[in-house]
Amino acid sequence: MFPIEIKDLYYRYSGKEENILDGVSLEVKEGEVVGIVGLSGCGKSTLCYCVNGLIPQIYKGELKGEVLIFGSPVREMRIADIATRVGTVFQDPDTQLFSPTVEDEVAFGPENLCLEREEIGRRITAALEQVGMSAHRFASTDQLSGGQKQLIAIASVLSLQPDVLIFDEIMSQIDRTGRRRIKEVIKGLKKSGKTILMVEHNLSNLDIDNNIADRVMVMRKGKLADFTGELE
Ligand SMILES: Nc1ncnc2c1ncn2[C@@H]1O[C@H](COP(=O)(O)OP(=O)(O)OP(=O)(O)O)[C@@H](O)[C@H]1O
Ligand SMILES: [Mg+2]
Repeated sequence: MFPIEIKDLYYRYSGKEENILDGVSLEVKEGEVVGIVGLSGCGKSTLCYCVNGLIPQIYKGELKGEVLIFGSPVREMRIADIATRVGTVFQDPDTQLFSPTVEDEVAFGPENLCLEREEIGRRITAALEQVGMSAHRFASTDQLSGGQKQLIAIASVLSLQPDVLIFDEIMSQIDRTGRRRIKEVIKGLKKSGKTILMVEHNLSNLDIDNNIADRVMVMRKGKLADFTGELE
């Protein structure tokens, strides 16, 4: 059983003519980090939405094929259940945090699971450690740099302890120092056994030689293929 299994997926947004996804299949093994590259607008984020359930739960449209998370079809799972299995971080550091302090932000998910206070506290501690932001636990979120905000966005999905992570161009708006820290964190997550699907515009963020992505796929005309060095 695969953490992520995409079987012959087709998707068309309502009111649109073309299939953005046009027969996508992918199997991601446990602990594997798969990078996806592709030109702007080719459907990388759309694929992410199919894995984390935003399609079909939020975005309507025509969907065919199937996405399985550890064997369970995403389209039959409730959003709340998906959140504990698949954690997603998006590109914009300024639209993902909505709590006044770092601690509140990271606590939000576990509080919604109605976990005990001690367990919530332990999860906050562990998640902040994983992203190297323990010293900022009581900081105000609006004082963080873009890179630090992304680290907190990662921590706030880690506190739900998902086995699968989706990073949709999380470094594209971050400066070089921030990117370096985020890459270190991703390596740590990989070591801890997380399965990661990572969309990237900038190939250097996949750092094949430095052991971030195990393999890279390219999305083109609604399909995925092994990346051989050419985007088009
Ligand atoms: N909510 C939506 N409704 C209709 N069409 C959409 C919607 N979201 C995206 N699209 C269209 O689907 C196509 C793929 O978009 P998507 O955001 O998945 O591409 P992407 O590869 O993530 O691009 P980028 O690299 O710029 O993030 C684009 O043509 C886009 O205009
Ligand atoms: Mg995108």
